[in-house]
Amino acid sequence: MSNVVELQVNRENYHETRIVELQSAPLNENQIRVQIDKFALTSNNVSYAVSGDMIGYWNYYPAEAPYGKVPVWGFASVIESQSDHIKVGERIWGFLPMANQTVLTVGKVFDDNFMDATPYRQELPILYNQYRRTQGEPEFLQNYDDERSLLFPLFMTSFLIYDFLKDNDFFGAKQVLIGSVSSKTGFGLAKLIHNDKEADVKVVGMTSSRNVEFVEKLGCCDQVVVYGDEDKIDRNQNAAYVDMSGNAQLTEKLHNQFGDRLVNSCLVGATHWEERRQVDQQLPGARPTFFFAPAQITKRNKEWGPGVVIQKAMIAAAGLSDAIKGDLLVEQITQADQTADIWRDMLDNKVAPNRGIMVKFE
Ligand SMILES: NC(=O)c1ccc[n+]([C@@H]2O[C@H](COP(=O)([O-])OP(=O)(O)OC[C@H]3O[C@@H](n4cnc5c(N)ncnc54)[C@H](OP(=O)(O)O)[C@@H]3O)[C@@H](O)[C@H]2O)c1
Repeated sequence: MSNVVELQVNRENYHETRIVELQSAPLNENQIRVQIDKFALTSNNVSYAVSGDMIGYWNYYPAEAPYGKVPVWGFASVIESQSDHIKVGERIWGFLPMANQTVLTVGKVFDDNFMDATPYRQELPILYNQYRRTQGEPEFLQNYDDERSLLFPLFMTSFLIYDFLKDNDFFGAKQVLIGSVSSKTGFGLAKLIHNDKEADVKVVGMTSSRNVEFVEKLGCCDQVVVYGDEDKIDRNQNAAYVDMSGNAQLTEKLHNQFGDRLVNSCLVGATHWEERRQVDQQLPGARPTFFFAPAQITKRNKEWGPGVVIQKAMIAAAGLSDAIKGDLLVEQITQADQTADIWRDMLDNKVAPNRGIMVKFE
């Protein structure tokens, strides 16, 4: 028996959290107990809470209502095993709760990953049931640790959006407008487009006034626009819009400003989660469409062969992580109550974009 510490969030009021301490339960057949070595916290995790009911994020690690466990990306080590395949001492990477330990059920096992087979998780998006076995992975990945949790899930998404836009010749746009460009997913996309000499498009990043300096320093935008100043964007050039902010007001303003010149409108995130509401579907310009990363992965798996797109996305993520090393300050948090404070700050937009939050509960 060991002591389990979990940080849970009230699903009806995200600002309210509780720290739960309990004794671990004995393992069943095929189960493993993992100690969570480190996990990352970014706005993406806030989005997991916001879209938790719609996509099912609350159901990977259920909790007693009205509380829920927000999933995070991180590393863990196997400390107890009832599996014939995954042994004590193995290191894994994947979707975890904000806790010091958890239990997984080992399903199909491959050289470099295994699938969780917990019955109630089988109806949820499969992507998050996959756990990487880190020693079976390409060597270059072994050199990335904090980046792997903090940046890779976001930069891999940046790559998939970049690939989707490029695959469609940017829908004929001459500029790509990125909402909440100071977010890691946002500036990752901006950098990939900006660094691509073949991409004949300008990158226009939109952000809050306090984040302009950070974005300008990254040097990934041809134009940086503060929210409210969207009139400064050239409305005579076709534009593709990628929205990380989920701010319906901003989306509607850009659609009305560009009309038919808004040739694609791609909804990716909801950093401005409090401004979130249903976007008017009758807006001028291209229909706002949710970006579904698995669809682009499936398409590329057919065209390029299984796993190639993920390998490319990982290489892109590693490159972006190297490129921003000096611009990101990684903080190591060790207390559950401190993590709860940062979670609340994240909800209230009080975490500067150059802060990278890594957590390990002591
Ligand atoms: N669909 C997918 O597959 C997928 C995958 C990965 C990420 N995403 C989404 O991409 C978005 C960015 O995630 P991230 O983890 O990269 O973000 P991040 O680096 O934590 O983003 C920080 C930035 O987000 C904005 N922000 C944060 N909290 C806010 C708040 N409470 N109110 C208003 N603005 C706030 C601010 O940017 P500005 O001042 O520039 O607005 C802030 O600088 C998230 O919504 C995430 O869910 C989606």
